Amino acid sequence: MATPLNLILIGPPGAGKGTQATRLRDELRFPIVSTGEILRANVTNATRLGIAAQAHMNGGSLVPDDLVVAMATERLEQQDVSAGCILDGFPRTTVQADALMHQLLKRRNTITCALLLDTSDAEIIARIAGRRICVETGHSYHVEHAPPTIPGVCDQDGSALVLRDDDKPSVVEKRLEVYHEQTAPLIDYYSHRKLLHRIDGTGSPSEVYERIVVAVTALRASA
Ligand code: AP5
Repeated sequence: MATPLNLILIGPPGAGKGTQATRLRDELRFPIVSTGEILRANVTNATRLGIAAQAHMNGGSLVPDDLVVAMATERLEQQDVSAGCILDGFPRTTVQADALMHQLLKRRNTITCALLLDTSDAEIIARIAGRRICVETGHSYHVEHAPPTIPGVCDQDGSALVLRDDDKPSVVEKRLEVYHEQTAPLIDYYSHRKLLHRIDGTGSPSEVYERIVVAVTALRASA
């Protein structure tokens, strides 16, 4: 059985959390838990949670902690994540971080590390402006850095590629503000617990991934 592993990816919107989570999943074979993806699926299916979350998401604010914690806890109780997972976009507040710690302890599990993808706001704005997602699968592309074979068409299923509702410039500005105010305190939170690893998030996705692999390999070797 694989050694348990719980990796948290922290970073501003567009830092590359989803991109790196996918690579880590493909290599390490641990599932991804992405609260953004779960919330978007709920919005698409017009569930009660989706209806409650939609206005917060479209406005660039965080969905309230009680809703997100309940949703994430339910996901983290599922069998496929019992040996660990890659957390993308959760936690995002210290309240959520406490809830995560509590939930993992219940399963005698712990956080392996929190990887902070360090990226400037200017880089974020450029990355988000070029992001396109598949209307059906949510698969993400970038018009320059990760383009589809045919512009505007998903390689996986041929569906149309669109701008995410919360990727409009005014909403991105708000999301960055929210990140600095409400999520950046997690940097201290995990530093104090000696769990934080800063990763230079600049350069190509492969260059960033290599830095993550070096950090995670060293951590696993010393565990
Ligand atoms: P969520 O979906 O989590 O969005 P986010 O954190 O804002 O992150 P993004 O998905 O925008 O970016 P990313 O870091 O994954 O970057 P990506 O890899 O796509 O959350 C959306 C909303 O849901 C939130 O605003 C909030 O309302 C709500 N929510 C979610 N979780 C919540 C929680 N825990 N609590 C409360 N509310 C919550 O990359 C971006 C683009 O750049 C892509 O096009 C990619 O191809 C490209 N790219 C990636 N890496 C590179 C690179 N190295 N160089 C060049 N281009 C790159």
